[in-house]
Amino acid sequence: MTKDGALPKGFERPTVSVSPNDSGVQAKYEEVKSSSKTITLRISKFNPEKDLRTAFHAFTVPYQRWTTVLDAILEVKSHQDHSIGVRYSCRQATCGSCGMIINGKPRLACFTKISELDSDVVTVEPMNNFPLIRDLAVGFERMFSTHKRIKPYVIREDSETNPGTKEFLQSPEDVEKYIQFASCIKCGLCNSACPTMTTDSTFIGPQGLAQAYRYVADNRDQGKDERLRIIDEPHGIWRCHFAGSCSQVCPKGVDPAMGIQLLLRIQKIIILFCVDLGCCLLDC
Ligand code: SF4
Ligand code: FES
Repeated sequence: MTKDGALPKGFERPTVSVSPNDSGVQAKYEEVKSSSKTITLRISKFNPEKDLRTAFHAFTVPYQRWTTVLDAILEVKSHQDHSIGVRYSCRQATCGSCGMIINGKPRLACFTKISELDSDVVTVEPMNNFPLIRDLAVGFERMFSTHKRIKPYVIREDSETNPGTKEFLQSPEDVEKYIQFASCIKCGLCNSACPTMTTDSTFIGPQGLAQAYRYVADNRDQGKDERLRIIDEPHGIWRCHFAGSCSQVCPKGVDPAMGIQLLLRIQKIIILFCVDLGCCLLDC
């Protein structure tokens, strides 16, 4: 940069004047918008400060082949109803924030394309089995506290950070035993689909149980007994009726129902072993 603020010779850039009206961007947007198809988006709305019950509000929204349900909700929020309460962040099925019931099924709004729903009417509602905050946003406090309760980290007395301790190496076979459960993004769709959670709000739930299995199956972990004790409670693993709906809705390929069955197998083996020895599981 020279003293008078100009760029040195050879580095000058042409000045371009861009205005929203003559850039062509708005015109292109209108062209795309007018050429696209439309759906009726029915959004469940509830404001605890003024509403007594939820009500559906219908909006006409243009969409393209690639438009997601989250895009459509945000289109409505930008141009038709600014008050819609919706939680989202990454818009790429990674943060787990945008779970909701879409046409009757728990799904991620950012991972569900309108064209794939094969319907002219798309209905979005807040997830079941979670306290409703507003419109499509629900409270995650209980799920996160349950997740925390099962101790979602490797428990060991030693540490790979201690001098003289080597890192905890694992073979591909060791990793294979738990890796699908490590893909959980804590979106809560499995808990929302779980019929036991509907009837027992204190049930640990498929998300927490799948995460308990994730660490029980990790051969670096030494907290197995502790975790098995936590889930062996009246509202713990024994309340699962194995409906399997949790695994059907998981957007990340986690199979919580299988994790629960594998945990049950470990629990039953321990109980049989303890009965044979005449001792109690809790004193192991
Ligand atoms: S197991 Fe699947 S559905 Fe359940 S919270 Fe994790 S990612 Fe979501
Ligand atoms: S916005 Fe992050 S998962 Fe949908």
